[in-house]
Amino acid sequence: MSAAVVTGASRGIGWQFARALASRGYDLVLVARDGAALEDIALRLRAEFSVVVEVCRADLSTREGLSTVRGRAAEAEVLVNNAGAGTGVSFSSTEWTAERDLLALNVLAPAALTHAALRGMLQRGRGRILNISSVAGSGPAWQGTAYGASRAFVTRLTEDLAYSRQVRRSDVAVMAAVLGHVDSNFHAAAGIVPSPPLLTLKPEFVAHAVVRALHRRRPPVRYVPSWRYRVLDTLLHHAPARTMTIPGLADDFTTSRFGNSEFPRGT
Ligand SMILES: NC(=O)c1ccc[n+]([C@@H]2O[C@H](COP(=O)([O-])OP(=O)(O)OC[C@H]3O[C@@H](n4cnc5c(N)ncnc54)[C@H](OP(=O)(O)O)[C@@H]3O)[C@@H](O)[C@H]2O)c1
Repeated sequence: MSAAVVTGASRGIGWQFARALASRGYDLVLVARDGAALEDIALRLRAEFSVVVEVCRADLSTREGLSTVRGRAAEAEVLVNNAGAGTGVSFSSTEWTAERDLLALNVLAPAALTHAALRGMLQRGRGRILNISSVAGSGPAWQGTAYGASRAFVTRLTEDLAYSRQVRRSDVAVMAAVLGHVDSNFHAAAGIVPSPPLLTLKPEFVAHAVVRALHRRRPPVRYVPSWRYRVLDTLLHHAPARTMTIPGLADDFTTSRFGNSEFPRGT
């Protein structure tokens, strides 16, 4: 069976993507910085699904880390660009180095790995690229940070590639999973207050729904798991930018009553 490369597989949604792919018989290359967590996950997946699992420890915000993983992406049958981070600190208050690292991880890494994977897939005549994005990138930004813009880039790049003639005429698929709030370490690490339970999705549910969609004969270009977020994504997608000047909506995550003083700052 062919191999799937999953970035950000050491916890959260990425670990569930790895599990969902292993359950379909894929051998895996798991990428993240935390080598011990990856080894632990690799052991569990080998035992449960009898697949070959390789651990690739890499910091995707660095040039070296990225070049290691690009080699693996070039050979992949499935590439899941999942690694990412957010921030609850306003753009004007962050250190530039933190901002640059966030953009390197959220923008440069998925672009570089997609670039490495796509050519090989087109040459082989098959393959699937899954780019993880967010409803935060679907409409007028309200966060006061570069996170929404970084996810908008991922969704847009995916759409531009998926609708290109070369990809449309091949058996290669490029798909964006546009996610709402998923229960993971993401919000605590970013210093953002989580959404209410009604709007919180389980990572297992998200991973299974997305991996199922990815394996349709013609996968959707943009897939939003859960009907609640499908409605929200559509509203955001069509909302005029001036919506965000309405009092109450104009406050961003970094200054509003949802302020994050009880959370650690930084990404
Ligand atoms: N959770 C949500 O509500 C939500 C909503 C919309 C979209 N998303 C997107 O979903 C994706 C996964 O998020 P999550 O919720 O699973 O977050 P998470 O629990 O914080 O996991 C993030 C993953 O990315 C890896 N990672 C972080 N920095 C990295 C780096 N510099 N190099 C390599 N790997 C790195 C982490 O592993 P190491 O720390 O071991 O490196 C971890 O495996 C992200 O792209 C996020 O933007 C999440």
